[in-house]
Amino acid sequence: MTQHPVIFAHRGASGTHPENTMAAFEAAAKLGAGGIELDVQVTKDGEIVIIHDETVNRTTNGQGFIQRMTYKEVAGLDAGSWFDTTFAGEKVPTLDEFFTWASGNELQINIELKTNKVPYHGIEQKVLELIEDYRMRGRVIISSFNLDSVRRVIELDPYIAVAGLVWRIPREAVMNAKKLGLTALHTQVSFALSEYGKAAVNSGILLRLYTINEKREWMRVKESGMPIEAIITDFPERFL
Ligand code: G3P
Ligand code: CA
Repeated sequence: MTQHPVIFAHRGASGTHPENTMAAFEAAAKLGAGGIELDVQVTKDGEIVIIHDETVNRTTNGQGFIQRMTYKEVAGLDAGSWFDTTFAGEKVPTLDEFFTWASGNELQINIELKTNKVPYHGIEQKVLELIEDYRMRGRVIISSFNLDSVRRVIELDPYIAVAGLVWRIPREAVMNAKKLGLTALHTQVSFALSEYGKAAVNSGILLRLYTINEKREWMRVKESGMPIEAIITDFPERFL
């Protein structure tokens, strides 16, 4: 049975596991999440790695900007101990490794291009190529806060599912989403409950809500009657 709303594990099951690691992704699948949200950045030598920040400082035992590190340097880091020592030895996964694992399940995959601070020239093309290599296009939604990245993905592949992460001005978000023909907006509760949320839905744009961690937040939206396609949460177990 298709889940509705689809429960996306934000950075994997990141409330209970180190974010954006295979441990967090595997836990999400085991819990029965319908999808996984993850963030990508690019190393100096062009490897697409799954990590939220532009630096490895917060979520590994290393220091430095990913764009200035080789993949070998990133791969040598411990991405689990900062969260809990029981996760010592977890690595920063590559998108390639993630897709190899995801080939064995049917989860939806939301890839967020983290190009809002570092532009990562060519990341859109690289991600699309990997999606093609692993035949994932029907399962993937690409999103970004960076409107240029969103535009570039559409230019390269007009048929892939692309979602906008609501830009600073809600009215512009709806306008841009309509203009670009986006399938969805990934947004917060306040947007969903506003006139802009309504305008988006009336234009056939799906809403996925982030980051909903408390049931009462979700109940507010549910009671409003606003149709919601998905919940993106650090704690999928609370909504399943
Ligand atoms: O994709 C929704 C959400 O992940 C965007 O914010 O900072 O958690 O990547 P952030
Ligand atoms: Ca994200």
